[in-house]
Amino acid sequence: MKLNKVVGNLITKIPWFVVCGRRNLSSGVEKERVDCVVIGAGVVGIAVARELCLKFRRNVLVIESGSTFGTGISSRSSQVIHGGIYYPPNSLKARFCVRGRRLLYDYCKEHGIAHKQTGKLIVATRNEEVPKLNHLLNRGNDNGVEGLKMIEASEAMAMEPQLQCLRALWSPTSGIIDSHSFMLSQLGEAESHGTTFCYNNTVTGAHLEGNQIYLHISETESLKNWESQQHPPSPPDILLVPKLVVNSAGLSSAAVARRFSGINHGVVIPPSYYARGCYFSLSNTRVAPFKHLIYPIPEDGGLGVHVTLDLDGQVKFGPDVEWLDHIDDISSIQNKFDYTVRGDRGNRFYPAIRKYYPSLKDDSLQPAYAGIRPKLSGPGEGFADFIIQGEESHGIPGLVNLFGIESPGLTSCMAIAQHVATKLSSRLGPSF
Ligand SMILES: Cc1cc2nc3c(=O)[nH]c(=O)nc-3n(C[C@H](O)[C@H](O)[C@H](O)COP(=O)(O)OP(=O)(O)OC[C@H]3O[C@@H](n4cnc5c(N)ncnc54)[C@H](O)[C@@H]3O)c2cc1C
Ligand SMILES: *[C@@H]1O[C@H](CO)[C@@H](O)[C@H](O)[C@H]1NC(C)=O
Repeated sequence: MKLNKVVGNLITKIPWFVVCGRRNLSSGVEKERVDCVVIGAGVVGIAVARELCLKFRRNVLVIESGSTFGTGISSRSSQVIHGGIYYPPNSLKARFCVRGRRLLYDYCKEHGIAHKQTGKLIVATRNEEVPKLNHLLNRGNDNGVEGLKMIEASEAMAMEPQLQCLRALWSPTSGIIDSHSFMLSQLGEAESHGTTFCYNNTVTGAHLEGNQIYLHISETESLKNWESQQHPPSPPDILLVPKLVVNSAGLSSAAVARRFSGINHGVVIPPSYYARGCYFSLSNTRVAPFKHLIYPIPEDGGLGVHVTLDLDGQVKFGPDVEWLDHIDDISSIQNKFDYTVRGDRGNRFYPAIRKYYPSLKDDSLQPAYAGIRPKLSGPGEGFADFIIQGEESHGIPGLVNLFGIESPGLTSCMAIAQHVATKLSSRLGPSF
């Protein structure tokens, strides 16, 4: 459905929806005043919309370029609820992961979302990795992760007979979640409290008039011929004039922000790097070899090829790290990302997995799926935190940009939503 129809319906069907008149610009593009806009219906955008409408009774319009919710990063993750061990103390990743995990488990219990607190073993398979486990233990303790315990190889291998390791760090709070059911539940709550999800519509840019943001929206379908030229092939279908905007466009959030004229791009918008991660599933096994999540020592860019479990007990391995070449902003906004899993990537999986699972059989791995991490640091550059930017960074009142929401973004999403609301609190009014 066309967005102006959606907004039009809102005026008639939902009288309290904040639409303050229509005016045509000289260009003839329709202009609508709205309350809050969230760009992107991934796990984070949905959580933000839910928070804004439930706690602050705001009317929210979520603009999503895909044909439904959760088609981006959020449907391509490991679906692991992380403890919060890896990240530097006091980083947003550390704080939001620990807080978000508690919120997530509570939410799952309250709303009957399928999940399982499986626990996880981080394993050292070579002598030189043992000190790294100690480092992770200290870090996890500093971050407030509950119940961490260093265990001997014999104890770990008693828990997991197929496992081979020298020592292991046991994290009892780690688990898995059905992230699709979680998104569906949060989306339902948001919809019943004044959020409208508008699919098949893309934010192609924005401009400022004074301090007011004008978002440019086009039907995704009409952008098919938008190649690398500066402007979309046709003028936007509608300009939205919102009081608040949360840019939660996942892999495209920096590209979207770079198309906001009036923002000092070079200074506030970080460079984007993309690291694809492929998963392989285990075939030819009737009985899953593991009951817990098994992770090696983290590698550059990711957490290492690990064992994840589905809620039905199926085992998969991944994700690896493959840095993608630069993706231009327009391709990014159009979600032209390549998710193919080439079978030959599996060749690197066997030696990596056999370090902790020596009896992995030849030819037992099947390509499964791939996800892409929105990174803020390139190969070898080390840790980069989530960036959640308000007016204090970019000078535009009512705009929050979310950059680099890679892992542990699923675990953190409810804490991120609360943080975004706090950032906007002076403009949100009282909470309920
Ligand atoms: C391989 C992999 C494994 C992961 N594993 C885990 C894990 O086990 N545990 C964990 O906690 N986290 C994990 N993560 C991280 C987690 O999946 C992400 O942090 C989270 O899903 C990000 O959600 P999001 O809403 O920010 O992004 P997305 O889900 O990508 O949502 C953004 C949405 O914006 C839309 N969009 C983009 N541009 C526009 C535009 N211009 N206009 C309108 N809409 C637009 C997109 O279509 C998309 O639907 C993993 C990530 C990856 C890549
Ligand atoms: C979005 O577009 C797809 C086809 O691209 C169509 O099948 C679907 O019905 C559209 N969804 C909405 C809500 O208009």
